[in-house]
Amino acid sequence: MLFVLLLVFQLETNAQIDPAHCRYPLGMEDGRIKDHDITASSQWYETTGPQYARLNREEGDGAWCPAGLLQPSDTQYLQVDLGQLTFLTVVGTQGRYARNSGNEFARMYRLNYSRDGLLWKSWKNRLGDKIMKANDNSYASVIKDLHPPVISRFIRLIPVTQVPNTVCMRVELYGCPWHDGLISYSSPEGQQMYSSPGYPIVSLNDSTYDGVHERRKLSGGLGQLTDGVIGQDDFLVTRQYHVWQGYDYVGWKNGSLGSGHVEMEFVFDKQRNFTSMKVHCNNMFQSGVKIFSSVSCSFKPRLLANWEAEPAEFHTVLDDRNPSARYVTVPLGRRTAKALRCRFTFADMWMMFSEISFQSVFNSSPSATNPSVEGQPDNGNTPVLIGCLVTIILLLVVIIFLILRCQYVCKVLEKVGLPCYERTRSRHHFLCLATALLLLSKASKPRNCQSLSPSACGGGYAEPDVTQCTPHQCFHNSVPHYAETDIVSLQGVTGSNMYAVPALTVDSLTRKDISVAEFPRHRLFFREKLGEGQFGEVHLCEAEGLPEFLGEGAPLPDRDGRSVLVAVKQLRADATNNARNDFLKEIKIMSRLNDPNIIQLLCVCVSSDPLCMVTEYMENGDLNMFLSQREMESTLTHANNIPSVSLSDLLHMSVQISSGMRYLASLNFVHRDLATRNCLLDRRLTIKIADFGMSRNLYSSDYYRIQGRAVLPIRWMAWESILLGKFTTASDVWAFGVTLWEIFTLCKEQPYSLLSDEQVIENTGEFFRNQGRQIFLFPPPLCPSSLFELMMRCWDRDIADRPTFEGLYQALRPHVALISVILGRNMVS
Ligand SMILES: *[C@@H]1O[C@H](CO)[C@@H](O)[C@H](O)[C@H]1NC(C)=O
Ligand SMILES: *[C@@H]1O[C@H](CO)[C@@H](O)[C@H](O)[C@H]1NC(C)=O
Ligand SMILES: *[C@@H]1O[C@H](CO)[C@@H](O)[C@H](O)[C@H]1NC(C)=O
Ligand SMILES: *[C@@H]1O[C@H](CO)[C@@H](O)[C@H](O)[C@H]1NC(C)=O
Repeated sequence: MLFVLLLVFQLETNAQIDPAHCRYPLGMEDGRIKDHDITASSQWYETTGPQYARLNREEGDGAWCPAGLLQPSDTQYLQVDLGQLTFLTVVGTQGRYARNSGNEFARMYRLNYSRDGLLWKSWKNRLGDKIMKANDNSYASVIKDLHPPVISRFIRLIPVTQVPNTVCMRVELYGCPWHDGLISYSSPEGQQMYSSPGYPIVSLNDSTYDGVHERRKLSGGLGQLTDGVIGQDDFLVTRQYHVWQGYDYVGWKNGSLGSGHVEMEFVFDKQRNFTSMKVHCNNMFQSGVKIFSSVSCSFKPRLLANWEAEPAEFHTVLDDRNPSARYVTVPLGRRTAKALRCRFTFADMWMMFSEISFQSVFNSSPSATNPSVEGQPDNGNTPVLIGCLVTIILLLVVIIFLILRCQYVCKVLEKVGLPCYERTRSRHHFLCLATALLLLSKASKPRNCQSLSPSACGGGYAEPDVTQCTPHQCFHNSVPHYAETDIVSLQGVTGSNMYAVPALTVDSLTRKDISVAEFPRHRLFFREKLGEGQFGEVHLCEAEGLPEFLGEGAPLPDRDGRSVLVAVKQLRADATNNARNDFLKEIKIMSRLNDPNIIQLLCVCVSSDPLCMVTEYMENGDLNMFLSQREMESTLTHANNIPSVSLSDLLHMSVQISSGMRYLASLNFVHRDLATRNCLLDRRLTIKIADFGMSRNLYSSDYYRIQGRAVLPIRWMAWESILLGKFTTASDVWAFGVTLWEIFTLCKEQPYSLLSDEQVIENTGEFFRNQGRQIFLFPPPLCPSSLFELMMRCWDRDIADRPTFEGLYQALRPHVALISVILGRNMVS
């Protein structure tokens, strides 16, 4: 048995590669590829280094992540050294899951490969596309077949993004060792066949050749002759879709090359003893195509030596009866060489090859001779047959083993009195056998097929799936929608960014989406400018006749007669189209909101430019300003008439904000910029959450600029929003915690005031790593400890462990009552 096995392994190394079966995991997941063979252009932290880029593994922080945000123009790569030339057929990618705390993945990637580690080539599919679609969540692995496959030792995966994004990758490569050892072939370029008029042109070029194409010669690369795809009997029929006739073959016409033969050179990775060469040829003699009549191969022991004097000659037996394509095996007489030069002589008008392979051994190989190969009239099937036989024998052995094992397990089960005991033995054996067969059928399939779609596993050429969608479309196709907005869009119209809404297409916005009325522009009278942003301004205006316009039940206090004060946000005339769309989007969103603690959109002027939105005017300005001008209520403040607030005032404010946010959360709206500066107070000190452009100018130090573009309130942002650009209701909860903190410090201090912006971002990294080195905001002196605990829960690293707004609201409400009681008592005593 052992002997047969050895024989088969020897034979298998000599057989041609079959891409449909050469799909074995190459060792990223199981560790056969060592850490030091996995490198990268950069890494974010030690814990997201390249060694963690292993599919289905969770070590470190769960994946490789290149440093920083990946910009669309960046080239970051993960490089794997496979240690030997490998026929690579499949690539599997996965994002960073990290036991549910990761949410980074690459939506697309490119591949570069190199046989020597010096000269890099980029992979293209058969239609010339380089970009492959990858993941759209952090956990599922996505398997991509490489059509054509790659023969290489070094692989680089280059994540590609359309918007600045954090990407992390885990990877597995699939294929099998490339025993041919061929590293390049050169040949005259393939030609075109023009037959009778009206008959389509047949292109017999080497369309996947990855070397140099110069002066009608190909050199220094590999291509269709080593891609494992064998041409059909009729060369007009191809195995690939969407390609031209004759695709599978490389062909030459006699006479066009100035001689009666085609000369090809083959260079190998090391010196080898060549047993044979197999050339897969077309033989459609009716169309003037035949295998070669003879071939003469010269040998070169070293690259810099001369060709040895005596070539190996071989004459074929021509076949004028059977038009099927075939392998022609050319014995090479066990000669040693590093390079070969073969001249194939025409037997007819045309010669067409689809595949060339070499059978050789090199000196480090333990079994030198293999008599069964030599001198055999070979049709290419013998090794396959023997392989099949041995596989069957192996299967039987495994089945016997499994039966024995099943019996053993059954005995053990019997001992502990488990149900196996009750079954009849024969039935149990049958079950065991069935299981064994099932296991085997699974095991004999390439492993990566188990969870794949049929198209990914079939031998055929799957449609190229290059992502061509815009970021917005991509954004829509992913779930949950609102979780992964790009950071660029953070910069809203007037410098503000009101709410992110899931599944809202900008293009589809029309007037009918806006559910508030158009107010006649001439009835708005300018009073003063309240603020401005990048694309707009906010004005205080008098709106003549607005109460009548809005009708009964409108939320406006009836003021001096017919006019009422409103805030008018207006888009500048020179605003970009994007800004315009965002503005309309903001209107649409706001027009749907109706809550006592959310700023109310009253009406709009969008029938003509400039676009305006009219909201309630909040007399007492924003909460930040309001609180920072006040002191905690005390006898001192009373005595000196200093404006003051009480603890229960602060709690009441907190409850109102949580109530407004609860409403937004119920609609799945993500605010993304909750802070005291965005909470406005009306005459009666009711808080309404808003976000006007004016805040950006007054509070510019609260925002952090990324490359002069996105403006981010990093001190209020959850770690995942900063690092991953992920905005959810849970990240709003984080910001709510910071807002609470502001309220209870009476906005006397910026959050993390001792840290610079860069240090804040660094601190975010500590949250991400979660090794206990992250700095939290300190407890505000006036804050009840139960309340600070609530804040701390808002800053939980685990997104799922943070409270909901409903929970916060329910937790805060009793505080108000409780504090009043305590204060009341204090007053009494
Ligand atoms: C990928 O290969 C191309 C050549 O096709 C080269 O220009 C580029 O620099 C390579 N990129 C990397 C990251 O290796
Ligand atoms: C091969 O021929 C086809 C069809 O004429 C052409 O589209 C393609 O660009 C050619 N490929 C190369 C690599 O020359
Ligand atoms: C091929 O062309 C050469 C001349 O270029 C000619 O001598 C030879 O007979 C041709 N062979 C066939 C099979 O047509
Ligand atoms: C390869 O061939 C040479 C002779 O050309 C011989 O000396 C050497 O032992 C052979 N090696 C193997 C592994 O067959």
